[in-house]
Amino acid sequence: MKLCMIGTGYVGLVSGVCFSDLGNDVICVDKDLKKINNLKKGIIPIYEPGLEELVLKNYKNKRLNFSTNLKESVKKSDIVFICVGTPTKKNSNSADLSQVYAAAKEISKSIKKFKIIINKSTVPVTTGDEIEKIISKKVNKKFFSVVSNPEFLREGEAIRDFIYPDRVVVGSNDSKSQRILKNLYSPLISKGAKFLSTKRRAAELIKYASNAFLATKITFINEISNLCEKTGIDIEDIAIGIGLDKRIGSRFLRAGPAYGGSCFPKDTKALVSTADKFKTNLSVVKSVIRSNDLRSDLLSKRVSLILNNKIKNKVVSFLGVTFKANTDDMRDSSSLKLIPFLSKKGAKIKYYDPTGSKKEFKKLKNVEFSNSIQESIKESDLVIIHTEWNDFKSINFKKFSKNKKLIIYDMRNIYSPKKIKKLGFKYFGIGR
Ligand code: UDX
Repeated sequence: MKLCMIGTGYVGLVSGVCFSDLGNDVICVDKDLKKINNLKKGIIPIYEPGLEELVLKNYKNKRLNFSTNLKESVKKSDIVFICVGTPTKKNSNSADLSQVYAAAKEISKSIKKFKIIINKSTVPVTTGDEIEKIISKKVNKKFFSVVSNPEFLREGEAIRDFIYPDRVVVGSNDSKSQRILKNLYSPLISKGAKFLSTKRRAAELIKYASNAFLATKITFINEISNLCEKTGIDIEDIAIGIGLDKRIGSRFLRAGPAYGGSCFPKDTKALVSTADKFKTNLSVVKSVIRSNDLRSDLLSKRVSLILNNKIKNKVVSFLGVTFKANTDDMRDSSSLKLIPFLSKKGAKIKYYDPTGSKKEFKKLKNVEFSNSIQESIKESDLVIIHTEWNDFKSINFKKFSKNKKLIIYDMRNIYSPKKIKKLGFKYFGIGR
């Protein structure tokens, strides 16, 4: 099929490249000329394992192309995906939909024969209705169908999540586009993905409700971990114990720092804001947002306690600063609260991240990027393992650090407390 992806951010680029790998002709469109020229040269704007190889392969075999010309690209396509950003509005918690509506307006100028317009951007329920209204100002309704097809791609695992999704959700109010979409996704369905057809509004809400539920699960285990710390229980036992109940399931029960990233913080807020608009009180999701906001303060306090409230001039190493492993994304990472807190209190921070130094810390006092794990921890008083990169899973602390009183705060519970204590170092984890 001939597809066009509008927006070559995370969702548009990964989905476009994967669709082309499945044998479709795909044009990825973006306003940003530099980005498009770079993509043509195989320069990828984001860090995502496996993406570069797929871009190069499919660009070479001409199934994948890049363009800044939205009009021409839409004209050539049967299916048009809207994959633009829906950030949180300034001074409000609702989603800023201006890019989605601008894309819909542009698309409407190029529809001469039947096209399916798919919204993949994460949007509040009823946005599809608005897109339909915008397009129908220029185009007769029989020439287009607006569909919601949310993505469930995790950063760092996006390609695998695309190829082996748990489910593909297609929300459409007509059976013709459902049929075409089922056909488009048939290579994934034949590999075991469940295909769920719903009404358009339901698909929009499935996306937000999924993210809010996962954020709730994480926040729940994080709060239980606070109780574990007070009662001498290991949270890992609790996570296994409750996760074995099939009704609960074991995934997304890893206690750690506040959840971050480009989706959970933004989408939980937008969901509450939509519910408010419809005069519905989502009190559980509201508490999740508040609990997660407070979590970084709680962990900052814990760091102070670990250092006996003597933070000034202490060397603190951060291993990993992104919101999770296998991504270079800093959006809503809890390190953005923890590092400024420690810097303000006079600590000397040396951070190492496999994805390099971060502009977010450039202006902070006494915050320095280290080129390796060893360089980061060699003079350290306290090592904070903030992100669960594989690189941090078997560090030889004895070899890398000369400090016999080294303290390790393992915020991802990677290490066995017993083993670290055996080495003679002090160990703190989350909820243990
Ligand atoms: C998420 C959703 O998983 C994905 O389906 C959606 O489309 C986009 O948002 P992503 O933001 O890439 O994906 O990351 P995810 O792996 O879900 O992690 C989000 C945050 O939760 C991270 O900060 C991570 O560290 C944290 N997390 C996750 C935990 O603290 N514990 C867990 O058990 C799982």
